[in-house]
Amino acid sequence: MPSFRAPRGTYDILPEEQPYWMFALKTAAETAALFGYGRIDTPMFEPTDLFERGVGDATDIVQKEMYTFEDHGGDSMTLRPEGTAGVCRAYIEHGLHNQPQPVRMYYASNFFRYERPQAGRFRQFAQFGVEAIGDGSPNVDVEVIELGWSFIRALGITGTQLRINSIGDAECRPAYLDALRAYYRGHIDEVCDDDRQRLERAPLRLLDCKKRQCQAIGNAAPKSTDYLCEDCEQHWASVTALLGGLKETYPDLDYYVDHRLVRGLDYYTRTVFEIEPENAAGQSTLLGGGRYDGLIEEIGGQSTPGIGYASGLDRIIAEIKAQETYEVSDAGPDAVIVHLGEAAGLRASALAAGLRAEGLSVLTAPAGRSMRAQMRYSNSLNARYALIIGDREIESGEGALRPLQSNDDQVGVSLSVEALSRAVRGD
Ligand code: HAM
Repeated sequence: MPSFRAPRGTYDILPEEQPYWMFALKTAAETAALFGYGRIDTPMFEPTDLFERGVGDATDIVQKEMYTFEDHGGDSMTLRPEGTAGVCRAYIEHGLHNQPQPVRMYYASNFFRYERPQAGRFRQFAQFGVEAIGDGSPNVDVEVIELGWSFIRALGITGTQLRINSIGDAECRPAYLDALRAYYRGHIDEVCDDDRQRLERAPLRLLDCKKRQCQAIGNAAPKSTDYLCEDCEQHWASVTALLGGLKETYPDLDYYVDHRLVRGLDYYTRTVFEIEPENAAGQSTLLGGGRYDGLIEEIGGQSTPGIGYASGLDRIIAEIKAQETYEVSDAGPDAVIVHLGEAAGLRASALAAGLRAEGLSVLTAPAGRSMRAQMRYSNSLNARYALIIGDREIESGEGALRPLQSNDDQVGVSLSVEALSRAVRGD
């Protein structure tokens, strides 16, 4: 057993896995560009207060999952558990309210939560997230939902469902929370221990409980959409009407109003949504987000609306593989130079440099091995050609170029970068 392993809940992405990540990241960047979202990068760690105030003291994330440390200057820092708080901090810090609103930004990077690792749940994970800050209109809610849906479709993933809800705002939420607490107090003996403890501190979270004994009680609980104030009610009506319009482009975009969808972060107001595979089991939410109209003010800015989502790229890649939406190319280098003897080794190295400078992918086979071993190596890499150079070839000035992907005969090619480059390119 090796003495060191990647920490629990983390993983290495080996070279053969990278094409999936490059595909997902490229699709994310292209989709974001289509919608006019520009990339933002924020630090991997921020002052702990930012998350305590932004994400919320009562959330599982802040209570149990943050990687918090005191730095050498005595300041408490936290590895970011999510991206929205940092982006909002940057929006305030750089005065982005002076730009045309909304400011549309996206990010794709790593986040850290001390969670119990299981399939689809890691302690270091990657998210592609988007944030539209500075416009409270329902059109932006639907733009962000469309962005999420089209990202998933552009990856070739199908069979997903959109769940949405409105959890109101600072005006109407208190009355709803009172109703929810009163309802759950009436069922206090039936719910699980966790829920009993959470009831006063975070009553919305009870709706999200996955325990069997809590399901029927959650289903019959008061619904936030029945308690919306007039503004939230109007916003909600517009969001659902606008969503209907997306069906022209995405006929399979059926949304499902889930009264128990509340999300695990405290900053949400009004619209919340998630996209998951239709036959979801366990940790499978591909993407989740919502509106956060109070967050920027909460962390010290002017009152500014915002909405966004984040998509877990680890789960996205698992789904790409499960649905086989992306085929990894097994193409190898253009050529491997097989070289026998000292003079051939020197020539091979110089030619490889020249050909690479011409934009061809060329490797030299490991020195000091037999011709057979070097040919085996070239085949194992799936190279298109082997260029064979020995003492005889050095003398004649002509190497043997052998196609490895066809039955064509090998040909003699002058040992110059120009001639070889033309032959390998097939010009
Ligand atoms: P979240 O629901 O905590 O929201 O995370 C969003 C997505 O990240 C999840 O749906 C899931 O795909 C992925 N994810 C979360 N935790 C893990 C984990 N431990 N392992 C693997 N994947 C995970 C947020 O983070 C919000 N900041 C989203 C947002 C942006 N809301 C508004 N703007």
